[in-house]
Amino acid sequence: MEAKRSKMKWLWENMKGYRAMYVLGLFGTVLYNALHLTIPIFSQQIVDKFLSGENAARNLENNKELLIRLLVGMVAVTFFRTVIVYITCLDFERVSQGVLYRVRNFLFRKIEHQDMKFYDVYRTGDLMTRLTGDLDAVRHMIAWVIRMIIESFSLMLAAAVYFVYMDWRLALSLLAIAPFIFLIIVLFRNKVAPMHALLREKLSQMNTAVQENIDGNRVVKAFAREEYEKQKFDERNREYSQTNQETSFVWLHFFPYVETFANLLPVVLLLVGGIFLINENITMGEYVAFSGLTWALANPMRQLGGIMNEFQRFSAASRKVMEIYYSEPTIVDAPAPVEAPERLKGKIEFRNVSFAYEHRPVLHHISFTVEPGQTIAIMGETGCGKTSLIQLIPRFYDATQGRIFVDDMDVRDYRLHDLRKNIGMATQDVLLYSDTIDGNIAYGDSSMSHERVRRFAEYSAAAEFISKMPEGYDTIVGERGVGLSGGQKQRISLARALAIKPSILILDDTTSAVDMETEKHIQDALEHLEFPCTKIIIAQRISSTRRADKILVLKDGRIEEEGTHAELVARKGYYYELVKLQGGIEEETREELKGGEVRG
Ligand code: GTP
Ligand code: MG
Repeated sequence: MEAKRSKMKWLWENMKGYRAMYVLGLFGTVLYNALHLTIPIFSQQIVDKFLSGENAARNLENNKELLIRLLVGMVAVTFFRTVIVYITCLDFERVSQGVLYRVRNFLFRKIEHQDMKFYDVYRTGDLMTRLTGDLDAVRHMIAWVIRMIIESFSLMLAAAVYFVYMDWRLALSLLAIAPFIFLIIVLFRNKVAPMHALLREKLSQMNTAVQENIDGNRVVKAFAREEYEKQKFDERNREYSQTNQETSFVWLHFFPYVETFANLLPVVLLLVGGIFLINENITMGEYVAFSGLTWALANPMRQLGGIMNEFQRFSAASRKVMEIYYSEPTIVDAPAPVEAPERLKGKIEFRNVSFAYEHRPVLHHISFTVEPGQTIAIMGETGCGKTSLIQLIPRFYDATQGRIFVDDMDVRDYRLHDLRKNIGMATQDVLLYSDTIDGNIAYGDSSMSHERVRRFAEYSAAAEFISKMPEGYDTIVGERGVGLSGGQKQRISLARALAIKPSILILDDTTSAVDMETEKHIQDALEHLEFPCTKIIIAQRISSTRRADKILVLKDGRIEEEGTHAELVARKGYYYELVKLQGGIEEETREELKGGEVRG
């Protein structure tokens, strides 16, 4: 009960700005249902005065005017009622769409500001479902379910009041049925609530399957797994469909009982009302009014099941939406952040840093310092923790132990935005947006001039292949840059990282897919950047790292070797082996290898 109340509270909070409009809509709902009840009142008058009363014939002769007035009144009330129904419908639609718009925007912002941990937990398809299908169930609650609840109850209440006013004994005999119906509804609710939770889960699973297949379509094709994927999807689809059916069938178990009770109403009326009529406790007109109003009791009773069903749908969906709504990122601005200068100098220091993903330790006691403007290379076999290490600098994750400093200030003391805007990063798996090449390179600053975009494309050795594209810089590169080669994507992502003129440039395996010639061009460009910049370069090739001021070799999350190219060659460790392995490639390397052997 507590959870439900807070859901309604949440809904109410999000109706801010629309509350008056909504309450007005609810008031309209009560009004048009109350007006519904005037029809039997009119009929009662007409029957008693003009059809069955002892003076009926005389009234019909002398009081034609009243009859006409009653008839016109009936028509007028009906018309008025229709207008109110129309207006309240508009009103509910406007409020619910307004709230939906706001909550969806809010959720998007929430998701946007989440940290990596969040994305490790929630799958894309699941988040999409929460933002669309689940959120729509919330809208349905505002636009329809609450309205139906008010409608049913106001109708029942108004009918009950009217019955009691006319004859309380007859009213009581009709209303005696109500508790049984409510009991059935409560039993139904208990049964159907968990099914709706399951249903939302199945929908999310199905959407995730679709999303992953669209995303990974190339892999599916490469392995010719279409049949397998189709089967897998069919299974998800069937599960969703079946759960949907089962949920609908639950009501079928309860429906006959509700229907029986609802159908008892006219029978009770016929029996008790008939006796009352014979005993002249009520008039013929009153009897007609009673029978004209039994539907006002019976219909809401019949509808309660549907309403309860919808309510449970909302309940399950809103739980999923609220989970995101109230989720908080763990990596946030410092409570009292330092005032960072517009541009950082780019000194980086790791002081005894260890890091674990959840419970999986990945980095152990890492310490090193990079002075502003220096280049540091990080090497090591796959899975040793290189990417994990660099992700700590822009605080994609926070270190589990130890501290990281940028410009002698703990990274946790900066505003995230101040810190991150100083860091240019080309990630290991390149993601380009469905936008022009120009738009992709200028992503970090939408006011960037074309001239600047071109210049950095030049630095990244991308200018040439871009000029050969059908529309040059205006070529749209598809979702994830389909249509570009791996090396081309890497170069665009490098240009994107460089174009913001960062104080710290992080390249995670960014030139792994480009040829040696191009790589050399890029390295020369990086050495002669027009702005001061500390560079962290993760690479496997000696040619990418040899010129670094410092090379770190990681092994199983620990620094195994540290020093310049010459020092590490002399040390004859992992790096030396690597040089030997790649040595045949370049004359220069061989020279140095000799030098190293002499020294070592
Ligand atoms: P390459 O890019 O292949 O050269 O490897 P790397 O040195 O960049 O390794 P990385 O830092 O990506 O991963 C280090 C270890 O952490 C590996 O054993 C991964 O399995 C693990 N790891 C990486 N990312 C995650 C993650 O998001 N969650 C968890 N639990 N483990 C991760
Ligand atoms: Mg990596």
